[in-house]
Amino acid sequence: MFALNFVFSIIQLISIINRTKLENVCLDNLVLTCYCEDDTSFVSCTGKTSIKDSFVDWAPFVSANHRQSSFTFYNLTRLTYLTFTNFSSTFHLHGESIDLTFINGMDEIEENAFQSLHEYSDSSIEIKFVSPQNFKLADYAFGRGAYYEVDIDSIQYSHIHKLPYQLNLKSMDGARFYQMNIRNCGDMEFISNGSSTIELIDIAVSNCSLANSSLLIESISTGLAGLDLTSNHLIALPSLKNFQNLRAINLKNNFIEEITVNIFNNMSSLGRLDLSNNRIRNIEPDSFVGLRLTELNLDNNRLTSLETLTTDNQTTSFLYPLNESLTLLVVSNNFLQDLNPLKHMTNLDQVKVCYNQIKTLDGNIFEKAHKLKSVDFSYNQIELIDSMTFNGTIIDNLNLAGNRLSSLETNESLSSNTSLFEKQTSSFLYPISSTISSLSFSNCTNLIEINWFIIIKLQALFYLDLSEVKMTEKSWLYRKTDVNSEDSSINWHYPPGPRIILYGIRLTDNDYCLTKSIVDILNKTILIVDIDHSCNCFIYSYDTEHRPICLYNQSVVDELSRQCTSIDLFCELFSNNSTALTFTEWTSLSSLSTTTQTTSVETIMTLTSSSTLVSTEQSIITSTHVSSERPNKNGQMKIILATVIPSIFVIVLCLVGTYLYRRKKFYSLTEDIEMRNEILQFTDKE
Ligand SMILES: *[C@@H]1O[C@H](CO)[C@@H](O)[C@H](O)[C@H]1NC(C)=O
Ligand SMILES: *[C@@H]1O[C@H](CO)[C@@H](O)[C@H](O)[C@H]1NC(C)=O
Ligand SMILES: *[C@@H]1O[C@H](CO)[C@@H](O)[C@H](O)[C@H]1NC(C)=O
Ligand SMILES: *[C@@H]1O[C@H](CO)[C@@H](O)[C@H](O)[C@H]1NC(C)=O
Ligand SMILES: *[C@@H]1O[C@H](CO)[C@@H](O)[C@H](O)[C@H]1NC(C)=O
Ligand SMILES: *[C@@H]1O[C@H](CO)[C@@H](O)[C@H](O)[C@H]1NC(C)=O
Ligand SMILES: *[C@@H]1O[C@H](CO)[C@@H](O)[C@H](O)[C@H]1NC(C)=O
Ligand SMILES: *[C@@H]1O[C@H](CO)[C@@H](O)[C@H](O)[C@H]1NC(C)=O
Ligand SMILES: *[C@@H]1O[C@H](CO)[C@@H](O)[C@H](O)[C@H]1NC(C)=O
Ligand SMILES: *[C@@H]1O[C@H](CO)[C@@H](O)[C@H](O)[C@H]1NC(C)=O
Ligand SMILES: *[C@@H]1O[C@H](CO)[C@@H](O)[C@H](O)[C@H]1NC(C)=O
Ligand SMILES: *[C@@H]1O[C@H](CO)[C@@H](O)[C@H](O)[C@H]1NC(C)=O
Repeated sequence: MFALNFVFSIIQLISIINRTKLENVCLDNLVLTCYCEDDTSFVSCTGKTSIKDSFVDWAPFVSANHRQSSFTFYNLTRLTYLTFTNFSSTFHLHGESIDLTFINGMDEIEENAFQSLHEYSDSSIEIKFVSPQNFKLADYAFGRGAYYEVDIDSIQYSHIHKLPYQLNLKSMDGARFYQMNIRNCGDMEFISNGSSTIELIDIAVSNCSLANSSLLIESISTGLAGLDLTSNHLIALPSLKNFQNLRAINLKNNFIEEITVNIFNNMSSLGRLDLSNNRIRNIEPDSFVGLRLTELNLDNNRLTSLETLTTDNQTTSFLYPLNESLTLLVVSNNFLQDLNPLKHMTNLDQVKVCYNQIKTLDGNIFEKAHKLKSVDFSYNQIELIDSMTFNGTIIDNLNLAGNRLSSLETNESLSSNTSLFEKQTSSFLYPISSTISSLSFSNCTNLIEINWFIIIKLQALFYLDLSEVKMTEKSWLYRKTDVNSEDSSINWHYPPGPRIILYGIRLTDNDYCLTKSIVDILNKTILIVDIDHSCNCFIYSYDTEHRPICLYNQSVVDELSRQCTSIDLFCELFSNNSTALTFTEWTSLSSLSTTTQTTSVETIMTLTSSSTLVSTEQSIITSTHVSSERPNKNGQMKIILATVIPSIFVIVLCLVGTYLYRRKKFYSLTEDIEMRNEILQFTDKE
């Protein structure tokens, strides 16, 4: 907002400067020369150098209507009560907003310099100082008037004198400000001869190397509603408990080390507290007693725990007083290992815990957070997630990127040696299966097993980010896990279906073979792959949101269309070769029962059954018979070819139909005929 204001005023100034030469001189005296245009409210004045005098007689101001309300003063060095004397008798600005901007200059502002402006009691007065030089503020420089906004930007004193600038709070004693912004001061401190009382609604002192805020805090009257001390050098904080109307406090980018009980106690109006980017190691358990904080930001601190042991060994937490009020909690970039106190929080909506050291997520950690929608656990060391971790929430956005999980199922199944069909497993995703829409496992390099049965249970899924995951044969697993829901139907609305983000993953023809049992699932998604992904049958066969560059090359497409018609033979060889994983471990979507021994024909059936075969074609396959013995390599080839080729023919034709249906862009009719001939030749030859 300020930045915007600032940019806007700079633009204003530039346009003023550009116009200056064309403009009329509307006032010229010993102190300054002013230029204006009759049809605008902008006046720009330049101070005359080496003039000690400060009296400006505004009466001779030459102008059509005297409705000017925006004045910019360049290089004016000194303001006294004489500078704006009888300003108000010249400019009749009652009820308007009056804007005075002082650029450069400003060595000295004397007592009651803006006295005359206070006659505009019904106007809002905004005063801006940009790059003031020495900026010596006399006691009562601002008089006892009321200002809508005072902006002090880039005080040059500390750059000129290599000494901290001392801002005299006595200059504002007794004055009232709706908003005061002091920023980019270099080194600065506050001084005051005797106590001051400044009435402020909103104050921001930012990027001023402020190390001690005590005097400032003491000088502000109790009506303060917003306090912003970002980007300073604060180490400790004084008590703020006098400010019962404070609604927002921003203390980010400081060096604060500890939050003690006396600072925020009983500030019942406080809603937002930003303590991010500090060095907080400890927050005393009762620090937030009496608060009804809704947003607490502790990003990038040095917390090792959210809990504290009391002297009588009771576990307590600084979060307990916020049990019922907190909606947003940010504790990312700390050293946390658990989140126990969150169990008691009832109003949470969003929790960010990324970049901590959490290793396991226990059950029901958000037990009472029935409104919880968004959780970011990315870049922890999470290996285990209990199946009831998210029970009771309505999470729609879950980020688990950069963790160490190896499966979407609960650990029970992973440690078990028994048959996967006997052991009932579950998933931490089931309790949120109807609400989750965005789920990220990107960079989970240990995630070797992805059971797509679990993924299809997520009815509202819209984004699934698997970027940088190392895809293995188990990444395309389909395995029923939950007896209570035998239902294998996909509830996604398609199109568009969920987007599966696969950046940084190089998919191969092998992946294509491995996805054959879940082709119906992937066919209802939109895959998002790297735009420079190399071409192969996987990329060729599935819909991608942005076609990889290689698919814009017609000769590559032609080559793929040839190659991928025989992909099923390749897949067959590939699956037989694979010893690490036997096909029986996978159940196909058609829930075709497979017997203990795998034969090539059965495998083919499993594969083809997920494509759309008509019953007569199916009977051709089922009528072929092979022995269940595994032949040697040469024999294997012969048997495969002898028994499989008819079925391959069927499959290939079927797939050709499929491709034609889905990839009209890639196929012309002649190509199709060519391809059929090729297939026929292929089968004849053998
Ligand atoms: C203000 O003073 C500086 C040097 O003191 C000068 O370079 C600049 O042109 C002056 N600005 C105007 C608007 O006269
Ligand atoms: C402006 O102030 C001067 C000096 O105080 C005074 O002589 C003059 O009459 C005033 N003009 C008006 C219009 O008030
Ligand atoms: C902070 O203030 C210094 C001058 O005091 C300025 O150079 C720097 O750009 C400011 N930083 C930001 C982020 O505004
Ligand atoms: C402080 O204020 C008192 C009067 O209120 C005055 O006598 C004294 O000179 C001031 N001291 C400084 C350093 O300005
Ligand atoms: C901050 O300044 C006050 C005086 O205004 C002083 O009493 C206090 O000790 C200072 N605090 C630190 C940490 O220097
Ligand atoms: C907070 O308020 C309670 C009750 O109103 C009071 O007992 C307690 O002393 C207050 N704490 C502080 C630090 O003011
Ligand atoms: C607190 O627990 C620790 C170890 O768990 C024990 O050494 C200590 O005596 C206990 N203190 C009290 C007050 O019970
Ligand atoms: C917050 O929860 C803890 C643990 O259940 C409880 O001891 C404490 O009293 C609760 N605080 C409030 C303010 O509800
Ligand atoms: C899941 O959460 C609900 C509501 O919070 C609770 O009643 C139920 O006991 C929890 N289930 C388990 C298995 O923890
Ligand atoms: C994955 O992690 C590495 C290192 O931790 C990081 O450099 C990279 O940006 C991460 N990738 C994504 C997609 O977040
Ligand atoms: C993909 O879905 C469409 C429409 O449901 C269907 O016609 C097509 O055969 C499917 N493709 C595959 C490879 O299953
Ligand atoms: C079969 O496995 C061997 C070694 O495991 C490998 O070198 C070969 O490329 C595989 N063949 C196929 C077709 O996957």
